[in-house]
Amino acid sequence: MKFFIDTADVGEIRDLAETGMIDGVTTNPSLIAQSGREFTDVIEEICSFIDGPVSAEVAATDAPTMIKEGHKLAKIAKNVVIKVPLTIDGLKTCKILSDEGTMVNVTLCFSAAQAILAAKVGATFISPFVGRLDDIALDGMDLISDICDIYANYQEFTTQVLVASVRSPKHVVDAASLGADVVTIPPSALRQLYNHPLTDKGLESFLNDWAGTGQSIL
Ligand code: G3P
Repeated sequence: MKFFIDTADVGEIRDLAETGMIDGVTTNPSLIAQSGREFTDVIEEICSFIDGPVSAEVAATDAPTMIKEGHKLAKIAKNVVIKVPLTIDGLKTCKILSDEGTMVNVTLCFSAAQAILAAKVGATFISPFVGRLDDIALDGMDLISDICDIYANYQEFTTQVLVASVRSPKHVVDAASLGADVVTIPPSALRQLYNHPLTDKGLESFLNDWAGTGQSIL
């Protein structure tokens, strides 16, 4: 399973990349707005130290302008993935950019029907938003399960399931259980993944016992 980090905060990405766990990055217009920085500068800086896919989202809503924006963003670095919304214009843009050899991430997916369309137009990634489905009292993981099952039925569907709108370690574990290809995780949720009170308690006890031996490894 690949881990992408869902943020436009370059400091956070640099910090977490040092763990060796980060396979790529996703951004969206809201995250860029939160960064307070110029969009293309942020993407260029991320791509200077992240080799894996880095998603940059178009802002236009009509296909001709989305395609132009996609071409401009794709020139920033070879690992830029053009992110388009799951609208008819987004799907048209996905088909054209994918046929040109550009990676495309189709975002704002909330149904299995939408995910089938993204696979049909050759998306590299489909981004179903699990947290936002949970927010409206549905189960986001049911959607991940449906999409994984459907894609597995068709060899020609090569689109990777990228679980987005992840809010907790449980989302990550559930996505892994279902065999999703990628999870994109906000930095706060990524840090929650390694925390366990029994780890802290066990380490404290080991260190106390070790100190009692009076020994030193180095
Ligand atoms: O990648 C999409 C993700 O950033 C959306 O997350 O928490 O705003 O639903 P959220």
